Amino acid sequence: MSAHRHLPFARRPHHAPVAPDALASMLESPGFGRIFTDHMVTISWSERQGWYDAQLRAREPLTLDPAAAVLHYAQEIFEGLKAYRLTSGGVALFRPEQNARRFQASATRLAMPLLPEPTFLEAIDELVQIDAHWIPPGDGSLYLRPFMFASEPFLGVRPANEYLFVVIASAVGAYFKGGSKAVRVWLSQDYTRAAPGGTGAIKCGGNYAASLVAQAEASKHGCDQVVFLDAVEHRWVEELGGMNIFFVFEDGSLLTPPLGGTILPGITRDSLITLARREGLTVREERYSFEQWRSDAKSGKLREAFACGTAAVVSAIGEVKTTDGHFTIGDGHGGPVTDRLKSKLIGIQRGEVADQDGWVRKVL
Ligand code: PLP
Ligand code: COI
Repeated sequence: MSAHRHLPFARRPHHAPVAPDALASMLESPGFGRIFTDHMVTISWSERQGWYDAQLRAREPLTLDPAAAVLHYAQEIFEGLKAYRLTSGGVALFRPEQNARRFQASATRLAMPLLPEPTFLEAIDELVQIDAHWIPPGDGSLYLRPFMFASEPFLGVRPANEYLFVVIASAVGAYFKGGSKAVRVWLSQDYTRAAPGGTGAIKCGGNYAASLVAQAEASKHGCDQVVFLDAVEHRWVEELGGMNIFFVFEDGSLLTPPLGGTILPGITRDSLITLARREGLTVREERYSFEQWRSDAKSGKLREAFACGTAAVVSAIGEVKTTDGHFTIGDGHGGPVTDRLKSKLIGIQRGEVADQDGWVRKVL
């Protein structure tokens, strides 16, 4: 590993940040991804200079050449993590180094430069420290969106030689409109999300672009999220459009699809596996077919299912719809294992439950 050269951050705070009373009303019911803070971080990269010009600055539109490679060939990656207000009053991030590492994995897959982990973490810390007052009261948080794209104006198809790394922050509440009600999911039969050898295991914008038509179909059928099956046999449950999935059986065991290169290695997924095993529960990372899911739900062998991710946290799945019918999981309202794991995770994130694994990084 080459030694990390510390990049100085130029700090140019906003001249006219949102005033406290206007901010308070914006934070009353923030929803998800609509309300953005006063600042952003930008860092440039060029083949000649490497990473340079790190700035903490007022959030404003970016200027892009219309030939910027990202607009043509979608060379773009991103991350998602949250800053939480601790019950004790501080502010903390949850396993941000995992996001830094996944960002590097995403960069590698899309032939982009690697942002050093300390620089990624410093960028996040800088933004959270200046905009922490945007964390909504109650159970809201600050959703951080680091991303990087090819800014070089060039239409030839090859990895670009100029990039911009940006971090923005959004004040958020629950991802799903219904709050903590169980969600309804739609099985996508016509579309798949990721194929072996593709980009399913990383976070690139293109994966989400490809999922939108299926997500729109889900919405049309009154569902909150889409479930994708594997691209080869169209049989094995992989994940949702923006979340991993877990199943809970009558014997108390859990199952989640294995990481095989086509699903995103979720940090929430990994954390829940650790927490569940520590409780003494059996967690299998095994393939699960849609047919088996339906038959286990109908027989009662399957008791609960839930979606998990940074945005969604832990959300019970109550009902599954397909083109030829629907079925309910348990009583359709989640269940005790989902609730318990969710409380434990949130408790750790808020500093209310002991952090045995060193997952919580205090930034204020
Ligand atoms: N799967 C997909 C496709 C996602 O977009 C996300 C969200 O980031 C996840 C799973 C969950 O990942 P994490 O728990 O790291 O947020
Ligand atoms: C996240 O949970 O961070 C995601 O990227 C998922 C998306 C649905 C917002």
